[in-house]
Amino acid sequence: MRTSQPRTIYLSDYRVPAFLVEHVDLRFELFEEGARVHSTLTIRRNPESGDPDARLELDGDSLKLEGVALDDKSLAVGDYDDQGDKLVIAEVPDQFQLTVVTWIEPQNNTRLEGLYKSSGMFCTQCEAEGFRCITFFPDRPDVMARFRTRIEADKARYPILLSNGNDVETGELADGRHFMTWEDPFPKPCYLFALVAGDLVEKKDTFTTCSGRDIDLRMYVEPRNAEKCDHALDSLKRAMRWDEDVYGREYDLDIFMIVAVDDFNMGAMENKGLNIFNSSCVLASSDTATDAAFQRVEAIVAHEYFHNWSGNRVTCRDWFQLSLKEGFTVFRDSGFSSDMGSPTVKRIEDATLMRTAQFAEDAGPMAHPVRPESYMEISNFYTLTIYEKGSEVVGMIHTLLGPDLFRKGSDLYFERHDGQAVTTDDFVKAMEDASGRDLTQFRLWYEQAGTPVITVEDEFDAEQQVYRLHVRQSIPATPGQRDKKPQHVPFALGLLNQRGEDLPLRLTPGEADAPTERVLDITQERQAFEFHDVAEKPVPSLLRGFSAPVRVNYPWNREQLMFLMNHDSDGFNRWDAGQRLSVDVIQSLIGAGSETVVEPRQVTAYRHLVSNADVDQALVAKMLQLPSEAYLIELADSADVQGICQARTRVLNHLALTLRDELVACYHRNLDIGPYEPTSEAIARRALRNTALAWLLQVNDEEGRILAKRQFRDATNMTDQFGALRALVNSDFEADREVALSEFYQQWQQDPQVVEQWFSVQTSSPRTGGLAAVSKLLDHPAFDWKNPNKVRAVVGVFAGQNLVNFHAQDGSGYRFLAKHINHLDDSNPQIAARLVSPLTRWRKYTEVYRDGMRSALETLRDKKGLSMDVYEVVHKSLAD
Ligand code: TRP
Ligand code: ZN
Repeated sequence: MRTSQPRTIYLSDYRVPAFLVEHVDLRFELFEEGARVHSTLTIRRNPESGDPDARLELDGDSLKLEGVALDDKSLAVGDYDDQGDKLVIAEVPDQFQLTVVTWIEPQNNTRLEGLYKSSGMFCTQCEAEGFRCITFFPDRPDVMARFRTRIEADKARYPILLSNGNDVETGELADGRHFMTWEDPFPKPCYLFALVAGDLVEKKDTFTTCSGRDIDLRMYVEPRNAEKCDHALDSLKRAMRWDEDVYGREYDLDIFMIVAVDDFNMGAMENKGLNIFNSSCVLASSDTATDAAFQRVEAIVAHEYFHNWSGNRVTCRDWFQLSLKEGFTVFRDSGFSSDMGSPTVKRIEDATLMRTAQFAEDAGPMAHPVRPESYMEISNFYTLTIYEKGSEVVGMIHTLLGPDLFRKGSDLYFERHDGQAVTTDDFVKAMEDASGRDLTQFRLWYEQAGTPVITVEDEFDAEQQVYRLHVRQSIPATPGQRDKKPQHVPFALGLLNQRGEDLPLRLTPGEADAPTERVLDITQERQAFEFHDVAEKPVPSLLRGFSAPVRVNYPWNREQLMFLMNHDSDGFNRWDAGQRLSVDVIQSLIGAGSETVVEPRQVTAYRHLVSNADVDQALVAKMLQLPSEAYLIELADSADVQGICQARTRVLNHLALTLRDELVACYHRNLDIGPYEPTSEAIARRALRNTALAWLLQVNDEEGRILAKRQFRDATNMTDQFGALRALVNSDFEADREVALSEFYQQWQQDPQVVEQWFSVQTSSPRTGGLAAVSKLLDHPAFDWKNPNKVRAVVGVFAGQNLVNFHAQDGSGYRFLAKHINHLDDSNPQIAARLVSPLTRWRKYTEVYRDGMRSALETLRDKKGLSMDVYEVVHKSLAD
């Protein structure tokens, strides 16, 4: 239930806090029927505040207030005003101690914000505004305090009691209870507070920092997960070393703890010294986790660890600055993953996410700048724009400055702002000061929403030997921003001659030692660039490495794209040329009759990929993937979903049928690769083999069927077992797929992470993910509305990935989604609001789909007691 009227928060209203909190002393009494929280705050007026007489206002949410005392004197009810979402005390001195006692009910907390229970343990999630669900507090990141936390609980049920910092005291209490006290020496905003209490096993490790300090690494999990910790701990040690080597950042506490929790709204949380993870993002063993899961764990463990500097030591002034920590930290974890595996593959993955999902967000009703100007519910702003585009923006600064000046800039930033709560502008300023570069225009990347479109035309003057590029930049209007100024786009490119070699890029005739790749500075709406001493018309390789998050239009023909696929020295652009070719082929088949042939040159290109064992197999595995349905929808002006899915399937089937012998050979070539190892080379071979298998089953190949069944039975790791299962599920071998699905469930029903995979392989499939089957899964004993991972695996995957079924033309998929969002909104508004996302872009689709999507949104709009979370998304989606 929404407790307050919908209201918008504006960046322009920011004021420094009227009061500062120096110290927080917390005592938690944990019981089965609730928890009592005693909080003593050491408060003083902020000398910087413009309002020296301000009354004290503390935030609260769903709290039962049991008592208030000021400097040890109990306050009478008339001395304070408990407004529910605020505790107001009109008269306070300049310095004082305030004690507040609240009663909360973690066992009934289904929102998973604040203190809640998950599989019998107590845990917290305070970002962004969860701390106010624990006690009254100035819940804003620019109030930083030292915390001391005492936890009391039944010793048998909760032998492990954790909070931030160092354990300073422990002891026994009456009635079989015990306590533990923790002290965090670093001042922090309350969103980084954490508490865990449970019956957990401890996995220990150590790390010696660059200055020779030994850090205690501890991972806490439920006993059944004891064998799934090694990969996270190894990843953590690699991340700690990498941050020292690449950013010069050493860990600062003596203990670093990781906890796995089954019910969690997001991936993980960087609480100071006590990172809490969604189980699916931290637990892994080769028999239960796929390669993708191994890589996800490594990246998320690193991400949360990196926050210790980019987020915790230097934090955000307010939530409009969220990308200060998230964009920068994603940039840091991308660099780490890139160094741990294949940089080209990592770049392809990041660019794919940007181009399919972030570009869609940037073109839809929820579009917002990397530094938003306003929001209603901050939980809705943990977006691809804040995270992924924010990371791309930092990446462009890296490109513009080069690695050395960028490092100088990050050093200056960490040094200058250590212990402070700052803005994205402070970050850019540090980069400017360290490098001497002027980033004034570049700052527009933080202020303007929308994806810039770069349109390139070329002209070759054979006589002058000049090749000229005419570049136009335009940025589409987004909600609240009609006219945009041109942005500074670092545009990496190369030019290929007819033999496929890179040409020297001479900006003046006769220029000596000209490089073969340059980063052009596009800064204007229209600009021309000239390259000299060019003997023949080249083929341009544009936006190499996806050097900026923009769309590029250039009229490459299919011949040129094939040429780039084979010759471009930039691996990313070889992949991109293949994608563009496939997009072109698929688009030309939308709505076309069966007499229209599939481009034979594409078959040739794919035959080459499948058969060539000499080139980088990791890149080949990526190049084989056809552009996704979601990407094709994103590229369409007005998307005919069913037409797009049919055309894509037709191309896939055609390739699979024509290349079936090559696919069988590719499968066998990559079969025996020894014991499981999550190295990028081994991952690539498993990916290739499983892609070959998937394609064979997609066209119901008999030999493929035998291979899949054998692989399913004999697999020694989850990547292969799951690869075989997925292939069978997406075939027409109905009996085989039912057997495989039921055997798989029998084998793994005790493992929630595997069961999530089992749900999503069915809900994502056009074959097994029809609405009736998906509805049936909601009644499955393993399904649980209270567990966000299960909701995502069934409802989220159906609506987000099973486009043929979700976009059924009778609108049944939309009604299904609206109905369940409606119901979920009462228990977990954050998850409910995220599920609205597939409906938000209703204007993108052709007539047939639009009405059904809009009326699903209207149903939600009309719900009584709608949460602020869903309210914001629905209202912005319906606004004109
Ligand atoms: N800061 C977390 C991260 O590393 C994000 C996060 C975790 C979060 N849990 C949350 C955000 C709950 C909002 C609500 O990206
Ligand atoms: Zn983060």
